[in-house]
Amino acid sequence: MKVTVLGAAGGIGQPLSLLLKTHLPAGSQLALYDVSPATPGVALDLSHIPTDVEVTGFTGKDPSEALKGADVVVMPAGVARKPGMTRDDLFNINAGIVKNLVQAIAENAPKACIAIITNPVNSMVPIAAEVLKKAGVYDKRKLFGVTMLDTLRAETFIAEALHRQKGSVKVPVIGGHSGTTILPVFSQVTGNTLDDKTLAEMTQHVQNAGTDVVNAKAGAGSATLSMAAAGNRMALALVSALRGAPGIVEPAFVESDSSYAPFFAHQVRLGLEGIEEILPLPKLNEREQKDFDDMLQTLNDNIKKGVDFAQK
Ligand SMILES: NC(=O)c1ccc[n+]([C@@H]2O[C@H](COP(=O)([O-])OP(=O)(O)OC[C@H]3O[C@@H](n4cnc5c(N)ncnc54)[C@H](O)[C@@H]3O)[C@@H](O)[C@H]2O)c1
Repeated sequence: MKVTVLGAAGGIGQPLSLLLKTHLPAGSQLALYDVSPATPGVALDLSHIPTDVEVTGFTGKDPSEALKGADVVVMPAGVARKPGMTRDDLFNINAGIVKNLVQAIAENAPKACIAIITNPVNSMVPIAAEVLKKAGVYDKRKLFGVTMLDTLRAETFIAEALHRQKGSVKVPVIGGHSGTTILPVFSQVTGNTLDDKTLAEMTQHVQNAGTDVVNAKAGAGSATLSMAAAGNRMALALVSALRGAPGIVEPAFVESDSSYAPFFAHQVRLGLEGIEEILPLPKLNEREQKDFDDMLQTLNDNIKKGVDFAQK
């Protein structure tokens, strides 16, 4: 398996590359690309860790060499939020970056599974889909917006509240990846004993968790380390599924076969060709159903903004 990280020298890219170097199966290749001239150095640094994962680093304007032969491309390239910014405020800069990088993926690794971390994810994934369609290589089974961090946060917060072992509580998180479009379905947690008011507060905690980190980092960026863990879990899930491991289910923002939004964060079962099945929505309680209904306009606006940009 070859995994390529685009934006590999950044706040997310470096710890993500470290995790991949230490967790990818032996024999894998890890290619790092970033416009930052530090990238070959990041690759050299990682190459001194004794795992059988071959690391190469590329910089400059052209990501082609890093992309050739890639099975999985993970993309945290772009700018991150500063205090006072929403994810949507990043649109103008990141839309162009994503468009160009996806064009390069279409040319050099048209069959790769693509996992987009760059914000706003709700708009970047539709942009990527349009670029791939124009290039004639779009496969809806292979394009993913990484919403995993919302899941990690939801699972951490509920495990804490229920005094259960961290990582042992599963929460489906659906919708999108910004503000109210993030909908953790806490009502479906097995053995939940918390009342719905507490779950509603916890939902807001998950929705605002990214902003909490932006504020706490006081201008130095947004979530990077937890995001690297989330990106690593997503990349490893894809690699395992592409290698034939059965029964891998993870959340991702994908093209939806639903009537409510063209892209949606679903639980998806992964297989040899990417998405094998989009799992049905979990059951929602009354409050979650209202949150679901209320978010759809925003989510669809975010998606349309991406499509319009790409079609311009
Ligand atoms: N999906 C999520 O849950 C989630 C969570 C946190 C952050 N993010 C997003 O991830 C992105 C990256 O965040 P970060 O903290 O790593 O930012 P960062 O600024 O630390 O790193 C971004 C890197 O991208 C590189 N880059 C910029 N343009 C590029 C291009 N055209 N080709 C290749 N590389 C390029 C930069 O040189 C930099 O090294 C941001 O958009 C941020 O909002 C997403």
